[in-house]
Order: sequence, then structure tokens, then C-alpha cells
Amino acid sequence: MAYPIDAMREAALRALDEVRSSESLVAWRVAHLGRHSPLMNFLGDLGSRPVAERPAAGSAANQAKQALEAALSVKEEALRLQELEHALASEKLDLTLPGRPPQRGRLHPSSQVLRRILAIWAEMGFQVYRSREVESDEYNFQLLNFPPHHPARDMQDTFYTTRAGVILRTHTSPGQVRVMRERCPEPIRVVLPGMCFRYEQVTARAEAQFYQVEGLAVGVGITLANLKATLADFARRMFGASVRVRFRADYFPFTEPSAEMDIECFICGGSGCPVCKRSGWLEILGAGMVHPTVLSNGGYDPRRYSGFAFGMGPERIAMLRHGITDIRAFWANDPRFLEQF
Ligand code: DAH
Repeated sequence: MAYPIDAMREAALRALDEVRSSESLVAWRVAHLGRHSPLMNFLGDLGSRPVAERPAAGSAANQAKQALEAALSVKEEALRLQELEHALASEKLDLTLPGRPPQRGRLHPSSQVLRRILAIWAEMGFQVYRSREVESDEYNFQLLNFPPHHPARDMQDTFYTTRAGVILRTHTSPGQVRVMRERCPEPIRVVLPGMCFRYEQVTARAEAQFYQVEGLAVGVGITLANLKATLADFARRMFGASVRVRFRADYFPFTEPSAEMDIECFICGGSGCPVCKRSGWLEILGAGMVHPTVLSNGGYDPRRYSGFAFGMGPERIAMLRHGITDIRAFWANDPRFLEQF
């Protein structure tokens, strides 16, 4: 049985065929699927039909509605493509219009210096060894020849935990004993980068956390001459082939003898400026020959083996390099600082 609904549907689909623009598509939707369209009126009037006719009429009307909606969305997509093609063909695209620059991230200044340092040591044959940040008092101090209550502990204010003997490492040196115990009796050439923690009053010059890069070479016949040559070579690779270095005697419990290495100030070339405090030299790292006690704590017989060690701070190098005067900027997470590097 043909309902007027079939005629309505045919008429609507024919009208849709004639639609050529999205404006007339809107008008078509109002006319054929809108609240006052013949189809909606038909659906609204269902109740006034004889009961027997209602199910068939209702289902025919719903099918027609679905068919029109489906045809509408096909048409919509076709028009959208057509209009896009038309716009591309007829409108001029201004290729000279500057785009919106995307916000690009970059490496933190500490990471930049850290990577440079590790790359240089890698070229010189030193592996990276990662050691833990949560340490025991034993590894952080005792095995490095700082006995309990030794005054040298005062140099490194410590974060203790509620668990006895568990602390945050104050330096990367405890990794020396860990790597020795793991590798003994093999020769060792490693660098140990990582975060260190000290219970400091935070000021422009002191932070409670900072990176260090430790170095360790252990083997047969390693001498102070090897230490000096290796660290001078590192300085030339890091700061330039013509940089001069000097060593000054110092004290660390875990090395004997101990030294600080300075490089000629790269800001003023050695003539004296505010960065080098008019001395012409910049302190870059601590170093020394591994103390016999530390060697045996690592499992190496100090009568047969010797070694050298060193420790440096990437933030300090970054501060000298970039003229950063406040160490708190490193972990303050302010993009205005970070964007500059
Ligand atoms: N651990 C020392 C510190 O944090 C730095 C250091 C000095 C490391 C001399 C060494 C070294 O390996 O030989 O102050």
C-alpha cells in the first residue's frame, strides 16, 4: 500500500538533488526534516489515524526520516569537499604569511653541560656508571674513609632519614666503592653522574640539590702523572685546546694526595675579572689518588693497584659559562630562565 509518505520522501530526495550550496542545504533541512515539515506533521498526526494503520504508517515514516537523514549527511560531506575544492582553486593562498611558531622545548642547562661532559669522557674511554641517590652512611662516608664523627663530615651537611643509616647521598663518591666491588679485580674507567643532596641553607650560592660527575680509574701502575694528564686533556676538550690548568693541594678523606684543578679564566683569559674574582683562575674540580683504604674497601689490594678519582659540578660549570649568578634558578622551573639556553 502506498502511503503519502512515499511521495513525500521522493519529493524530498528530488529536492536534495537540486541543492548546490550549504545555504540551500540548510533551507532543505528546515523544509523536509524541520518541525513543520510534511514528514514531521505526518508523524505528529499518527495518533489521529485508525489504530490498525498506525504501526505500518509509523514505521514507514521512521524509515523515510532515516533515509532523509542519511542522504543529508552524504550531501553535506559532498558539499563540504566541493566548497573546499572551489576555495582552493579560486582563492589565493598567501604563502608569505608567517606561521605561528610552535613552542619548542630544549635541554635544561645542567643537562646540556652534563651531556657534554659525559660525551668527552666517553671519547676518552670512560663508561657511564649509574649509582643510587639513596645511600647508606657506610657507603657515603665510612667506606670513603670518613669514620663516624670525623670532622670532614662537616663539609657535607646531610639529609638523614627516619631509618637508621639511610641517607641521601651528599656526593657521587660512594659510587666509587660500589663500582669497585662490582668490577674487582678488573681495571676501571668510569664516570658516575647524578644528583646529590645536602642539607643546605639555600642561597644564591648553595642549593639543596645539584649534579655531580664523579670519575674513577683503577688499575695497575696508575700514577699522579696519569691523573694530571687525563684531567688536563679533559679541560682542553671541554674549554678549548689552549686552556691552561693548574693543580693546588687540597684535602679529601678518600684521596691521598688530593688536589683541586683550576682552569685559566675563560671570561678574561687570565688577566682577572669579577667572575674569577680577579685571580685569573676558575676552580673546576676536586681530584686525587684513591686512598689505599678506599681501594681495599673496594676489594683491590693497594700494594698492587692504584687509581685516581675526581669530582665536578655541572651547575658550577654552567654558571661560569653563562654568567649565571644565582644557583636557585636551576630548579626554580621558571621558563624565562630556561628559555635562555
Ligand atoms: N666528593 C667531593 C665533594 O663532593 C668531590 C671530589 C673530590 C670527588 C675529590 C673526588 C675527588 O672523586 O677525588 O666535595
